[in-house]
Amino acid sequence: AEPLGVALFGLGTVGGGVAERLLRHPQTLTAGRPLSLKHAVVRDVAKNRGIDLPAGVLHDDMRRAVDDPAVAIGVELIGGIPQAFELCRDLLRAGKHVVTANKALICERGPELFALAAEHGRMIRYEAAVAGGVPIVAGLTESLAANRITGIRAILNGTSNFLLSRMADTGASYADALAEAQKRGYAEADPSMDVDGTDAAQKLVILSRLAFGAEVTFADVSMGGIDVLDAEDLSFAEELGCAVKLLAVAKRTERGLELSVRPTLVRRTDAVANINGPMNVVAVRGDLVGDAWFAGPGAGREPTASAVLADLLSIAAARPPFRPRQPDSPLRPVPADELFSR
Ligand code: NDP
Ligand code: HSE
Repeated sequence: AEPLGVALFGLGTVGGGVAERLLRHPQTLTAGRPLSLKHAVVRDVAKNRGIDLPAGVLHDDMRRAVDDPAVAIGVELIGGIPQAFELCRDLLRAGKHVVTANKALICERGPELFALAAEHGRMIRYEAAVAGGVPIVAGLTESLAANRITGIRAILNGTSNFLLSRMADTGASYADALAEAQKRGYAEADPSMDVDGTDAAQKLVILSRLAFGAEVTFADVSMGGIDVLDAEDLSFAEELGCAVKLLAVAKRTERGLELSVRPTLVRRTDAVANINGPMNVVAVRGDLVGDAWFAGPGAGREPTASAVLADLLSIAAARPPFRPRQPDSPLRPVPADELFSR
């Protein structure tokens, strides 16, 4: 079959992992139609990336890649919101499908992009935007499609989970553990988004839209991060037989949908306490399935590339995009500032 042209925007931690697999093992990436890397667009073409790209593929001209008729799918891996939004908008307007790993973008401007994709008859997929390599977007929208979801309890930020595990297990300082997470490619360009709860809250918003079909925004999440903790807090937790975890929780209550991200004491006997390092977990409660757990690497080059490539393969196989549930009754978020004030 005719190859499907792919343009990668961003060739950093995630983009580099995607490019390597596209170039080295193309035979495993042929669902429907083979994928062919046409462009890898970056800011700095002089940077040494250790990737052997075919001549002419690496450049810094976004417009050239967006307008190339040989490109069917654009993969946004540059991060941030304004430029990423403009890029995805331009790709959709140019008739390309879009894959992104950008949770900030999907949380803040996802609905606009989904409307644009529908208007242009194109798909937008974002499995990697939540929990890295863990297939939770497909899990919620496809595998658990028949369930009425009543709650989600999750660890959604690999960097802060890595930090907490490192500090508790090796006595590493907060600063050293964060520097190690950055070196390993887990952290965001601005790592304060990881440690203050923002990244986990953005992911919780995305999951809540899919799981509950509710109109949820970032402001609906009552949010706190691990940046207020020190080694003493973690050793007190140990004395109590607990671990500290940055838990993201969404639950249906009589008042509405309660959404929070908080450092939380979790008993050592609870399996969630033993999700360590950059691992994530999402426990979903459905009325048919009961408690279904999805766990695995939540950050890092190859695990995230795994999810991005799955989205590319879904598009190559012409599988339709994710659809949020239709709410069975109007479900509104409880105002975030009322959550812990009772
Ligand atoms: P990096 O900072 O490692 O890479 C960003 C890439 O984008 C770089 O190659 C950079 O170019 C390029 N870039 C940035 N701005 C522009 C621009 N204006 N024009 C062209 N190229 C640009 O980020 P990551 O790979 O870590 O993250 C990418 C996205 O994936 C983010 O949205 C992030 O939240 C998400 N994500 C990351 C995960 C991870 O584990 N790292 C996991 C899940 C999602 P240059 O190299 O020249 O500077
Ligand atoms: N910075 C994010 C994390 C990357 O640490 O979880 C994965 O989304």
